[in-house]
Amino acid sequence: MEILENFNLKHFNTFHVSAHGRYFVNATDLTCLRDALAFANKKEIPFMLIGQGSNLLFKEDYPGLIIEINVRGRKLIREDDDTYFVKARCGENWHAFVQWCLDNKFYGLENLSLIPGTIGAAPVQNIGAYGVELCDVMVSLDALEIATGELKTFTNAECDFSYRNSVFKQGLKDQYVIYSVTFGLSKKPVINIRYAALAKALEGISLDALTPELVSQTVCDIRRSKLPNPQRLGNAGSFFWNPEISLENYTLLQEEHPGIVGYPTADKVKLAAAWLIEQAGWKGYREGDVGVHEDHALVLVNYGQATGAELVDLSRRIQASVKVKYGIELMPEVRII
Ligand code: EPU
Repeated sequence: MEILENFNLKHFNTFHVSAHGRYFVNATDLTCLRDALAFANKKEIPFMLIGQGSNLLFKEDYPGLIIEINVRGRKLIREDDDTYFVKARCGENWHAFVQWCLDNKFYGLENLSLIPGTIGAAPVQNIGAYGVELCDVMVSLDALEIATGELKTFTNAECDFSYRNSVFKQGLKDQYVIYSVTFGLSKKPVINIRYAALAKALEGISLDALTPELVSQTVCDIRRSKLPNPQRLGNAGSFFWNPEISLENYTLLQEEHPGIVGYPTADKVKLAAAWLIEQAGWKGYREGDVGVHEDHALVLVNYGQATGAELVDLSRRIQASVKVKYGIELMPEVRII
């Protein structure tokens, strides 16, 4: 295991901000992962796991060990009459895995096409897009218990998934490293176009022509049309969560702001944070190298040499103005370090 020192993390976060990790290790297998955790423990320094850094923002240098999770591997492990059970290790790229599943006719991940990041990061925040969340297709996962170095299996229910949330962000935060994830994928094509923007993009297509491949392609097209490619423009997708409020509160807000965009959930209403930010005047805003993307108000961008601190400062100004205008607290979805 090679430990690098004072390592620049610019290429390990999709915001492309410069920040240094005191130590850095590229963990390519389970032994390496265990050794890296033991190193941090022995040195009594904090450690942090990163996949492709697609949901984090470094506002300063990191004083501990950065562990790049790079453990690869994916395979079909079993099947029954309806389902393929497919296992992928934590360092696999999410979108490449989705494509591989489609190529093999393992269906169910199409709506989650083109999400940046790795397999290991996906369950932590229960990634979701275009009407599907990871929890809809995940059977179980294996995670390394940091305290003991043992692998433990968690069923879907044990992960306690909810919107952009899981037990690994709550009660078991910082206690486990996700090592591999097992998905239950359908043998028959599954078409889910309940998400309004997806249904609209596929309007007029006959049922016969509606294939998982077409759904995947359409999701990619929609994402490319409004979310900037992090390889070209530094960003981490949605910067804030879409806030959930009570129906009562929503009705009051609607009276004052008739155009407000909200979607009913089980017992609440999920507001489109992008709408709140756009209406507060931020869409397309730019100051120096930080800004709010011109095609999507929920996406903060680094136009070149922005620092993490500048991006955090912009996010706080957005939060403050949305709070004044709507009385709503926006919470960062991006992990700020
Ligand atoms: N809207 C605006 N202004 C904008 C953009 C959107 O007013 O600039 C309004 C529109 O009314 C639009 C609504 O917001 O209909 C929702 O927009 P969109 O469909 O783009 O979805 P979102 O709520 O902004 C969420 C996820 C995305 C995911 C999409 C599609 C969160 C925090 N974000 O965005 O996830 O791709 O739905 O399912 O839940 C991510 O997590 O990084 C991410 C990109």
